[in-house]
Amino acid sequence: MSKIYASMLSIGAYSPQKRLTNADLEKMVDTSEEWIVKRTGIKERRIAAENEAASDLGVVAAKKAIERAGLNASDIDMLIVATLSGDFLFMPSTAAVLAGKLGMKNIPAFDVLAACSGFIYALSSAKAYVESGMASNVLIVGAEASSRFMDYSDRSVCVLFGDGAGAAVIGATDDPSRAIVDVKISSDGTGWDNLFIEGGSKNPIREGKPHKPFMQMKGNETFKLAVRALTNDVIEILARNNLKASQIVHFIPHQANLRIIKAVGESLGLSDDQVVLTIDRYGNTSAASIPMAINDVYEEGRLKTGDLMLLDAFGGGLTWGSALARFGG
Ligand code: UT7
Repeated sequence: MSKIYASMLSIGAYSPQKRLTNADLEKMVDTSEEWIVKRTGIKERRIAAENEAASDLGVVAAKKAIERAGLNASDIDMLIVATLSGDFLFMPSTAAVLAGKLGMKNIPAFDVLAACSGFIYALSSAKAYVESGMASNVLIVGAEASSRFMDYSDRSVCVLFGDGAGAAVIGATDDPSRAIVDVKISSDGTGWDNLFIEGGSKNPIREGKPHKPFMQMKGNETFKLAVRALTNDVIEILARNNLKASQIVHFIPHQANLRIIKAVGESLGLSDDQVVLTIDRYGNTSAASIPMAINDVYEEGRLKTGDLMLLDAFGGGLTWGSALARFGG
């Protein structure tokens, strides 16, 4: 029997219509277009409509990915959602809600909580389930309405994040030239206080008690940790697969900060045309940023079957990870 490989069969994404520009933010907090562009690379981000929760963004992206894989919802036998801004606080999972909206009955559906690294964590799980034969077609979705957890008086965080969703179908192939080559995921919980949202059992939201259900970040510390961890990670994943940076067709990193992306890209000696940037138009969409970026490359007609992609992400937890995948669609 030939070996089963997991393959990214398709990609889809959705970005909400409402735009929040740097000029808009200048009217809300003490910031400037110049500071935001220079320090982050962000020009605008999208904001979910009042009636759109994370699953509502995810459902549009998911339907596109299923259709592009040439499948029906009934062909999906597992759903994994990566989100830090799910529809509900912990229960039910956004994956269960989304499965219901997609008409997927009786399939396993669960969330992974790995903040901005969530899509890479979901990809790692999907690969393992498909290659073990425990699932045939796993739908993985990164969906974020993180604007709901922004304090729009805190300039250190609110200028960074935007909303959106991306989805991919991970299925089986016996063709290694379409396979997900490797996924590497890591964490260091001693750094949890660099990036968090309160309201859990450590400091629950109770009436009369001051609380801040807003994202809080030690930006500069996180920046340095991200550059160090990601640089080491991408070098290691290439080395352990005997691949060279020159073989990467698309470097599709989590879009947190243009300067982080450039630093990691330069450490590998990548040229500009290998590096995919969407941060200018969407900001940091956390677990959705990688699939949204893959989708943009796909819709621009630049993603071909067999193209080698290098993905990487860093986020709260702390968590980080990278993946090498040949596009299988
Ligand atoms: O996606 C999950 C992982 N996230 C990340 O990896 C994000 C990592 N961090 C970053 O991207 C960057 O650290 C930030 C963009 C958040 C901040 O950039 P920075 O170059 O590290 O700035 P900083 O925090 O060191 O602050 C520099 C200055 C400070 O002023 P002083 O003390 O030098 O007078 C800040 O108060 O910039 C000030 N500042 C701002 N000024 C205008 C901070 N935020 C703003 C702002 N507008 N929005």
